[in-house]
Amino acid sequence: MERKRILTGDRPTGKLHLGHYVGSLRNRVRLQDEYDCFFIIADLHTLTTKPEKDNIEGLADNVRSAVLDYLACGIDPARSVIYLQSAVPEVVELSLFFQNLVTVPRLSRIPSLKDMARGAGLDEMPFGLLGYPVLQAADILLPRAHLVPVGKDNVAHVELTREIARRFNNLYGEVFPVPDVLEGEFGSLVGLDGNAKMSKSLNNAIFLSDDEKTVRKRVMSMYTDPNRVSADVPGKVEGNPVFQYHDAFNPDKAMVEDLKTRYRAGRVGDVEVKEKLAAALNAFLDPLRERRAKYEAQSGLADEVVYDGTLRMREEARATLTAAKKAMGLSAVWNRISRKAEDVKKKRG
Ligand code: TRP
Repeated sequence: MERKRILTGDRPTGKLHLGHYVGSLRNRVRLQDEYDCFFIIADLHTLTTKPEKDNIEGLADNVRSAVLDYLACGIDPARSVIYLQSAVPEVVELSLFFQNLVTVPRLSRIPSLKDMARGAGLDEMPFGLLGYPVLQAADILLPRAHLVPVGKDNVAHVELTREIARRFNNLYGEVFPVPDVLEGEFGSLVGLDGNAKMSKSLNNAIFLSDDEKTVRKRVMSMYTDPNRVSADVPGKVEGNPVFQYHDAFNPDKAMVEDLKTRYRAGRVGDVEVKEKLAAALNAFLDPLRERRAKYEAQSGLADEVVYDGTLRMREEARATLTAAKKAMGLSAVWNRISRKAEDVKKKRG
């Protein structure tokens, strides 16, 4: 039996961070034996908030950096397809078909789009940004994926994808699986400053490529329970970013439970909790650093991985587009016209 498929990916906006790992990368690495994996580097999606030339000029470097982050995490380029969205233009055609299967009010209710518009300093919603999740649905359905591992803020987009797949299949016949969403185990990772989410633009991130010293420094300056002025004041564990990170990255559960108990009782200092977190994070990142160094030493490797993946994805894309247009009856329109035209030309001689 053919294996089921995963599609997920990232916008190439720069280095990936611990939030990306917790939201989706961890699941990708874990599931790559079980599924055929397609990882999209969604450069077209960056245009929805940043259409300017200087963003486009930086894309190639950002693509390489994302690929190295993937490989550092343990994604195996020999098994997984990593590809560049803008080099597979079929996605735009599929997205256009899907635009007719959703309404503007449905899209207007998706909160992440308003957040992105606000984050980009836009007071009005660009047409393309409103269509962001429709393009994402085309990404997901182009390789006919069954499972989509994403972080919390993308769950609503996968829900929309499911609706589009059902609607397409109802109108035209079964072409697409209705994909399941797989959310990261720890929700969305809070930022170092206690802000709702870790994000490069909020400057509250630890990057997967950060060195040991940087990680330690950033952890030591993390936001904790602000009411705790000294080590003997009982502290709050719930909603405390230091403990959320311990839960997500420290494999020594007994140590974490002990720290929590002592923290609640006012019997441990913030410094000890943070020192132990920095050690756990660095232990987690060490194998990533090793793999990154190994891959970086191979010149042009990231480029070759995306190149090969894109060529492979183009075959998938063509097959799906052919199936979709056949189901819609759209290919028959041109077929009839061209057959007739060729016929008369031949008769005319
Ligand atoms: N929307 C994702 C993000 O927040 C990127 C993305 C584009 C994506 N297409 C996708 C994720 C398809 C999963 C599946 O950056």
